[in-house]
Amino acid sequence: MNVLFIGDIVGQPGRRIIKERLRDLRRTYHADVCVANAENAAAGFGITASIAKDIFSSGVDIITMGNHTFARSDFYSLAQSEQRIVRPANVSMAWPGFDYAVWDGNGKDKLLIINLLGRVGMDPCESPFRAADSMIKDYKEQFGAKMVLLDFHAEATSEKIAMSYYLDGRVSLVLGTHTHVQTADENILERGTGHITDVGMTGAVNSVIGMDVDASLRRFVDCLPTSYKAASGAAMINGVVAELDPETGKCISIIRIMIKE
Ligand SMILES: [Fe+2]
Ligand SMILES: [Fe+2]
Repeated sequence: MNVLFIGDIVGQPGRRIIKERLRDLRRTYHADVCVANAENAAAGFGITASIAKDIFSSGVDIITMGNHTFARSDFYSLAQSEQRIVRPANVSMAWPGFDYAVWDGNGKDKLLIINLLGRVGMDPCESPFRAADSMIKDYKEQFGAKMVLLDFHAEATSEKIAMSYYLDGRVSLVLGTHTHVQTADENILERGTGHITDVGMTGAVNSVIGMDVDASLRRFVDCLPTSYKAASGAAMINGVVAELDPETGKCISIIRIMIKE
């Protein structure tokens, strides 16, 4: 099974480029399923019902989220009804929404998709390592899914790499998100888990991780409390394509993609 994963979609440029290019990209890489992180889709923060609809109509099958999951108030109702959106699992039990999705679009092979927050620089309620243990054990059995994709939304490279080694042989893919800069370390570990420390982001090329350069500089240089806003202009898609073995759940290949306008 070929999985196309799209790194954090940031604002209008990110949404526009997937609308224009994703169908072709799916065809080029013979993608059976497309999963995209969209925690920054609504002007850089969170997602709305209409934006989610738009992203699905662009060719995304499953959306994963991150630390900005609940930045938009209308996500609360969307989260309760939309099973194609996966929020981080190691958060407060009070959070609405689904902490997993199962894709079985070809009618036989099942891919379990989960999303966890790292602990460095974030404040999840539970260790992502312990949460991964219980979810993998329970959900793989419950849904009969041999393949598992974890979107590990974390700040620290070390924590993301550690997660891959921790889960090696138990999941198909550990794909890092959140830092928005694609890392050149895609790799398959000894027991068959495909890894990349960060997939990168899908948004404006001339930006500070997808956000407006001037606004970022006002914050960093002048230390003024300036609101972040998503950048505009030419966009790029950052992603990975991985081939998974539906029988063993192992990763056969993983490549990075970066398409710039
Ligand atoms: Fe992000
Ligand atoms: Fe994030």
